[in-house]
Amino acid sequence: MSTEARSTPGTADSDARHDVQLTVNGVPRGACVPARRLLSDFLRHDLRLTGTHVGCEHGVCGACTVLLDGAPVRSCLLLAVTVSGHEVTTVEGLGGPDDMHPVQQAFQECHGLQCGFCTPGFLTTAAAYLEENPDPTEDEAREAISGNLCRCTGYQNIVASVLRAAAITRDRQATFGHDTPGVSRPKVAGRPDEGGTTAGAGAGA
Ligand code: FES
Ligand code: FES
Repeated sequence: MSTEARSTPGTADSDARHDVQLTVNGVPRGACVPARRLLSDFLRHDLRLTGTHVGCEHGVCGACTVLLDGAPVRSCLLLAVTVSGHEVTTVEGLGGPDDMHPVQQAFQECHGLQCGFCTPGFLTTAAAYLEENPDPTEDEAREAISGNLCRCTGYQNIVASVLRAAAITRDRQATFGHDTPGVSRPKVAGRPDEGGTTAGAGAGA
């Protein structure tokens, strides 16, 4: 972690700002923020990456899930200063309209969303899970997304989407040698591009 406190004489410590430098969706990003800035707020307000949604802000719903060095984390439970120097992948980094990640394509095909509020968290969670287990059973898929809450879908289509994403990944790898036509996709944590909001599914403020 590399932070640099910037305070002026007479300024309370709680008002001090810190340089946070990290890699987001493969791009170096940084901002000078208060020590108590949550990672979710840092992404949404300081970096304008509003694909990451904020629901409960208590680590319960999973809407704010992003990947930290490839592993899913609740961004509402992390301070931005604690992830300085690390690599974050948000839902914007998974893919775009022309190179959808298998989970994005699968959620679109299987109608794995209704209002879409929970979707960024499901997409990042599922993307990371399928890196670990590329051929899950239905029970395993259900367990994998059990930490995320959805108030709309009843979960059936989300489970179907995870299974479909695994199948899409296998099909793409058999056809193209990797999971996206025309794109040499690195691991999710190293996705090199980023957009405004995520295409496919689960984007928006
Ligand atoms: S907003 Fe972070 S877990 Fe609900
Ligand atoms: S689609 Fe509405 S909360 Fe999940």
